[in-house]
Amino acid sequence: HNRRVNHHTAASPSPDNSPLLAAYHGRPVGPAVWFMRQAGRSLPEYRAARAGTEMLEACLTPELAAEITLQPVRRHGVDAAIFFSDIVVPLALAGVDVHIEPGLGPVIAEPVRDATAARALAARAPGDAARITEAVRLTVAELGATPLIGFAGAPFTLAAYLVEGRPSRDHLAARTMMHADPEAWDALLGWVAEISGAFLRAQVMAGASAVQLFDSWAGSLGRADYAAHVQRYSARTLDAVADLGVPMVHFGTGTSDLLDLLRDAIPAGSPGTGPAVVGVDHRIGLDEANARLGGATPLQGNIDPAFLAAPWPVLEAHVRDVVARGTAAPGHVVNLGHGVPPDTDPGVLTRVVELVHGG
Ligand code: CP3
Repeated sequence: HNRRVNHHTAASPSPDNSPLLAAYHGRPVGPAVWFMRQAGRSLPEYRAARAGTEMLEACLTPELAAEITLQPVRRHGVDAAIFFSDIVVPLALAGVDVHIEPGLGPVIAEPVRDATAARALAARAPGDAARITEAVRLTVAELGATPLIGFAGAPFTLAAYLVEGRPSRDHLAARTMMHADPEAWDALLGWVAEISGAFLRAQVMAGASAVQLFDSWAGSLGRADYAAHVQRYSARTLDAVADLGVPMVHFGTGTSDLLDLLRDAIPAGSPGTGPAVVGVDHRIGLDEANARLGGATPLQGNIDPAFLAAPWPVLEAHVRDVVARGTAAPGHVVNLGHGVPPDTDPGVLTRVVELVHGG
């Protein structure tokens, strides 16, 4: 697994000249596609590499994290790698007792239910990112011209896990704290913004070419709550890398009504700040998303993962429709509207990449 992965369309061998970065900058040079959760259980080589190793242990083993990050690039020829890690890794590095239960998701041993617990958590230092830095360096050295995307979880989504203690449907306990105990909420989200920001910064400093902030559960909030209680903490997370000039992608699910607020959470305006990109889920057409954003923001998305198991002609027509609608935006990176389902046939993903690249 030590061969270089060369990008088939790059004019000169640098991530800076890649189709991905060009699209994120709103100056597209050709189609670019990658998939959220492209590294994972859909790949037999992932299941083999992970056998006998717990998820968070795998994330904190640099050689293994690098290998898993590279697997989908080799197999599918996607235009970007996304760093194999998890949104809860910064919590683990800070000493929070968290593990990832297969088939369920993150579980927190001691949920944060009040201001006392939030303040105790907020006193913790971010933790040592050396293993993250090492994994990113190993990955970037192998990737060559293919860019690596770093990522972090947004404060609301991480707070939803910290307060609930486990995945939940409506995030009721977290949303209750948001309204009932603003002081606890501020301590909690401020701290998460700090550690997620440090996690992002470590990845970019070690060689990641772009970042994506995942606010997977932001769609459970209305506009007023998002704007008043959440947006500024996501902005603070991205502020940690705003001076590094990398594109910043902000993604959530169920966020059709929040797209402008997601965009406005991305730092802008200072010299040297990278471009703002919005990730769109499958619930809205990219042409409509582009119209809502005033036609000035590059977009990423939004193949409905449900189509991956449909007959090829049905999926093909859907992918062509996504690509066509994406032409409305100043730049478009093809992706799914959410992560690759674990039971996806990897051959189908390769075929989607070929379709996007070849027409
Ligand atoms: O290819 C990639 O996208 C790379 C890395 C990545 C993972 N998780 C690996 C992972 C990324 C970007 C994430 C982000 C993440 N993790 C999010 C935000 C994105 C989203 O999907 O909404 C969230 C909410 C989590 C929390 C989490 N971690 C969940 C809900 C799960 C699934 C649990 C399960 O078994 O269904 C995880 C575990 C996880 N993170 C896996 C992977 C590859 C599966 C681990 C396994 O192999 O069992």
